[in-house]
Amino acid sequence: MKRPFLIAGNWKMHKLVGDVGPFARELEKHIPGGFPDKMNLEILIAPPFTSLIEAHEVFQKLDVSVAAQNCHSHQKGAFTGEVSVEMLRDIGIRNVIVGHSERRQFYNETDATVAAKVAACLKLDVRPIICVGETQDERNQGLTQEVLARQIEAVVMENPELQQSVIAYEPVWAIGTGKTATATEAQDAHHFIRSIIRKLNKTMGDKVQILYGGSVKSDNVLELMQQEDIDGALIGGASLEASHFAQIISSASGLLG
Ligand code: PGA
Repeated sequence: MKRPFLIAGNWKMHKLVGDVGPFARELEKHIPGGFPDKMNLEILIAPPFTSLIEAHEVFQKLDVSVAAQNCHSHQKGAFTGEVSVEMLRDIGIRNVIVGHSERRQFYNETDATVAAKVAACLKLDVRPIICVGETQDERNQGLTQEVLARQIEAVVMENPELQQSVIAYEPVWAIGTGKTATATEAQDAHHFIRSIIRKLNKTMGDKVQILYGGSVKSDNVLELMQQEDIDGALIGGASLEASHFAQIISSASGLLG
């Protein structure tokens, strides 16, 4: 049975509190038939921390989920500038993007940090969207599977149940570059990720949603999401404009039976 789809927008360090309401209204306007049923296709937005409260309030009415883009692995303590999962829950947030390649690349997040953050989320029943993916160099050297296995295993060893986690396969070379993995390249990586999780936990492997991320747009989302092991998309640039994001949602809705 096909898993439910998830279309997630990652706003990164874009947009102010005042942009949230107009974005939501614009999104509604561009999905005239109404939003798809969340059980079949969930829509999620990850705004910056400062807009989370507003986004939670505004998007709740549209049945659009909201995620933070990061969290700390401790629930409290002397960690200046950090935000814990407990704090996110406190304002109603139940989803967090963990281990995005920009966090790994610019803020030295390691597999161990990512695994600890996932544990912190699961402990408080917050759903982590765990990002993995190889760099261009790693792909050129034929290391894609090795890197993916290492990143996934680090998380699963620490969190054997994985519970309600979502995985996002985001090849680093495809993020913000306009270069998308072909549907076959993406499917191969997704299939590989699912097979590693299946080996560790069969039920989880069958059930886990694996999103593709990296230059997803309205003109390539359909082909990607038609692949057996691709259950949705994590979208950066193309999620910033409501009309474009709505087109992506509409394309994906076309796949619902
Ligand atoms: P992009 O970003 O869609 O702009 O390539 C994807 C991401 O970083 O999640």
